[in-house]
Amino acid sequence: MLTARIAVLVSGGGTNLQALIDCQARGGLKSGGLSLVIADKAGVGAIGRAESAGIPCQVIPRRGPDFEGKVLSALEAHRIDMVVLAGFLGILSGGFVRSFPGPIINIHPALIPSFCGKGFYGLRVHQAALDYGVKVTGATVHYVNEIPDGGKIILQKAVDVLPGDTPEMLQRRVMEQAEWVLLPQAAEMVAAQIVREKENTL
Ligand code: GAR
Repeated sequence: MLTARIAVLVSGGGTNLQALIDCQARGGLKSGGLSLVIADKAGVGAIGRAESAGIPCQVIPRRGPDFEGKVLSALEAHRIDMVVLAGFLGILSGGFVRSFPGPIINIHPALIPSFCGKGFYGLRVHQAALDYGVKVTGATVHYVNEIPDGGKIILQKAVDVLPGDTPEMLQRRVMEQAEWVLLPQAAEMVAAQIVREKENTL
């Protein structure tokens, strides 16, 4: 059966990558295959997760020369159909988004359009939600376009903020209740769409 070849871009611990790996292992990612992991920093936890799962993994330093050009070359070399940003903390340029022919999706740890855009990443997002005093936050998976966190929303899930939450406690709850559920679901939806398009061109 035709499947979409998926690359995952990571910057950190890789728990969202792990959710994708686990979903694939239990047969939930039936339209796609995890074919490449690109880490933008050496030594991050996500690399070990990719290696344990037997997925080819490359480190391309984000602050090094021609980061985006190198990523695009790797995507082409591995015949990647779609890209998943799973805890990727950089911002891809409009030029990059236009150069990659397939869909790029991202998981953001808040309910877009709240607490998103430039400067809102990782724990900072949860700190901002607590500072504002919202009682509900969550996670969003969206398409990536030239505006940071500005592309069309694919899936969203709300999570309660509880009295006494620290940013770390809230981050963990948003991951467990929303991110690790939504990202594999959205990846399967987008992969299934790619497969349908491929089948129509056969
Ligand atoms: C996740 O909470 C992800 O949503 C967030 O960084 C964390 C990475 O964790 N991403 C962003 O803030 C992107 N703007 P992980 O490496 O364990 O998946």
